[in-house]
Amino acid sequence: MKVLITGASGLLGRAVVRNFKAAGHSVVGTAYSRANDELIKLDLTDSEQVEKLLNNIKPEVIVHCAAERRPDVAEKDHEGTLKLNAKVPGDLALYAKIHGVMLIYISTDYVFNGTNPPYQADDLPDPINFYGESKLAGEQAIRDIHPASVILRVPILYGDVLFNGESAVNLLIDSVKNTNKPAEMDNYCLRYPTNVDDVGRVIKDLAVYKIEKGRSIEGTYHFTAEEMLTKYDMCCIFADLLNVSKDHLQPQNSISGSASASRPKDCHLSTTRLQTDGIDVSFVPFRTWFQSYLSP
Ligand SMILES: NC(=O)c1ccc[n+]([C@@H]2O[C@H](COP(=O)([O-])OP(=O)(O)OC[C@H]3O[C@@H](n4cnc5c(N)ncnc54)[C@H](OP(=O)(O)O)[C@@H]3O)[C@@H](O)[C@H]2O)c1
Repeated sequence: MKVLITGASGLLGRAVVRNFKAAGHSVVGTAYSRANDELIKLDLTDSEQVEKLLNNIKPEVIVHCAAERRPDVAEKDHEGTLKLNAKVPGDLALYAKIHGVMLIYISTDYVFNGTNPPYQADDLPDPINFYGESKLAGEQAIRDIHPASVILRVPILYGDVLFNGESAVNLLIDSVKNTNKPAEMDNYCLRYPTNVDDVGRVIKDLAVYKIEKGRSIEGTYHFTAEEMLTKYDMCCIFADLLNVSKDHLQPQNSISGSASASRPKDCHLSTTRLQTDGIDVSFVPFRTWFQSYLSP
């Protein structure tokens, strides 16, 4: 398959590139500020530039990973976030529809309010922060324009980072290592940290099932690892693996009224639909992966 991957310089995009390349597919990755010899520079908010590149590459599959994924940044820049997270998916959906291309859009568990897990792929979304709203608007644009596209929702991601701030999970390692800096740590929101290489495999399998095996793969899917951990739980695992004290970290067992309005408690995603379609939903255990990642 000839696959175009947007956001290929990002945490998930790099893993998607790895997975398609390892399976022998032809991959073109695009990046924005981190374009290099291997990644084509593309400003996705420039629709003319996008159309020109797509007409040039003629991909069979587009995996759209690029987005503003930081809820705090999204909150501060509604206009810029909507441009990238909602308008761009619509532009890609139109191209995919006209040219018969498979479009895979990556969305988030934050489209749910977190009060009634586990969430099935057809449950009603109800985002409680602007990031979730913007990603849902991207989903909606795709459903309206080209409903045969795939929307894959995933939870908080971790993996091999260039710097810990690339992942809200890897970032916790810095808090754990800073033993002389007391910090409050969320022990309220239940998360299901998922490795980007497992997500990359699922995305590649969805494309293979549709394009190579001719199966009917369309609409909304959920993928997640199944270990329920708060950020404090993750820190305890890191402290243990790094053999450092966690006494400087205070578990925050409840959140104040204003914070609870923007932080969903439990957005556990159900992978039933992927399993029904025969896609492998296995995942690497959190501790096992970090044990090897953190070992010298
Ligand atoms: N990370 C998570 O925990 C998480 C959880 C749930 C869902 N998701 C979703 O998963 C997807 C991938 O997230 P990620 O963590 O890999 O994000 P990331 O590491 O922040 O990467 C974002 C990517 O978007 C690109 N980009 C930004 N603005 C662009 C523009 N104007 N034109 C073209 N490209 C642009 C960036 O390119 P440069 O870096 O080269 O500028 C980068 O490659 C997103 O859709 C996100 O919403 C992520």
